[in-house]
Amino acid sequence: MNILLLGSGGRESALAWKISKSSRVCRLFIAPGNAGTALFGTNLGISANDFDAVGGAVLANGIDMVVVGPEEPLVGGIYDFFRQDRLLRDIPLIGPSRLGAQLEGSKDFAKSFMLRHGIPTARYMSVTRDNVDEGHLFLKTLHPPYVLKVDGLAAGKGVLIVDNFSDAVRELSAILDGRFGKSGETVVLEEFLSGVECSVFILTDGDTYKILPVAKDYKRIGEGDVGPNTGGMGSVSPVSFADSVFMEKVERRIIAPTVEGLRKENITYRGFIFFGLINTGGDPQLIEYNCRLGDPETESVVLRIESDLVDLLEGVAVGDRLSRELRISNDFSATVMLVSGGYPGSYEVGEAITGLDGVLDSTVFHAGTEVRGGGVVTSGGRVLAVSALGSSKESVLDRVYRDVGVIDFRGKYYRRDIGFDV
Ligand code: AMP
Ligand code: GLY
Repeated sequence: MNILLLGSGGRESALAWKISKSSRVCRLFIAPGNAGTALFGTNLGISANDFDAVGGAVLANGIDMVVVGPEEPLVGGIYDFFRQDRLLRDIPLIGPSRLGAQLEGSKDFAKSFMLRHGIPTARYMSVTRDNVDEGHLFLKTLHPPYVLKVDGLAAGKGVLIVDNFSDAVRELSAILDGRFGKSGETVVLEEFLSGVECSVFILTDGDTYKILPVAKDYKRIGEGDVGPNTGGMGSVSPVSFADSVFMEKVERRIIAPTVEGLRKENITYRGFIFFGLINTGGDPQLIEYNCRLGDPETESVVLRIESDLVDLLEGVAVGDRLSRELRISNDFSATVMLVSGGYPGSYEVGEAITGLDGVLDSTVFHAGTEVRGGGVVTSGGRVLAVSALGSSKESVLDRVYRDVGVIDFRGKYYRRDIGFDV
């Protein structure tokens, strides 16, 4: 079959790599892709958010299945766009309906969904300009630090953790006054939970599901988890504290009620769900949903999936109750992200990348790269994801960090502590 994958980051490079290994795939297209996805398929110069252009490419290239990587087209309703188009209606698209994508697109929607289905999560209240005073009273019932979440999509910048009450009140006003535009017309105020986080992913047809390998993401820019939040500086899989006892609780208290909740509420969902979890004294609580896979978790997760991913995706598309097999390797995988100097603040792009030919023992997934003048140059903050799989953590980290040292570009920065804490 011919597949079109939407997106252009490290997650999509990893998915393109995995999809291209499938014996089922004839041609793989990626829109818009990057220099790395071009190694596994054909990049199309189309934005994933331009639904008309995506639809046109599907018809022109005889696409049999569309796989959506990022959240934006999903929250924007690409699933519904396909279902409502006479020519595209029967083409399977892996991703939730617009309503299902609200699990990520609206924090208020997600929290009330969790509440309706008894899913453990932080105590919260949603605030708009109309009930700010009640919001202040609610904040008074919490202990610092205070968590404020912009309701809508905010490119990963919509969660504020504030140390004292007066700052929380000030930040709340600033968001309601438009700092995040429409996304911040509603703000979720939330109790702060402390614990270690992990990312759990499922693939679901809205009825049954398969649990993919669990991963941990390193969010802060600095070693030892200090400094500003980033899109993710690295990942590992599996995560030692997410053992079978913990995962049994995750499945029973969080995953199963979520899928059952979607089914009960007639929300069409054929795609991935990302559960951002926190371990509070052995009990999982749900911090957030995303309607897509994580990045850079996917880079570590795909290495551990032994089964043919396309076969599983087809199972979702045709709704055969996910009877197909998901085999997961017991090995350890790790990903170290190489980022542009200055990220997550401002940084240069267009820097020549050298050393990719010298990589020996890792798989290098491209995130922010493009081909220019016959060479590969940087085009984003997160540039390359260097990933490896192996039976011992030590040997995997040795291999990854050796190859991290071989690749170079001006301003290259990475964390040297990925994986050493688990
Ligand atoms: P997001 O940007 O939505 O991926 O979430 C940002 C991060 O904020 C999460 O991964 C957590 O580290 C943190 N966070 C969100 N909600 C809470 C909470 N209720 N308690 C503690 N940390 C939180
Ligand atoms: N790594 C976190 C995310 O993809 O949102």
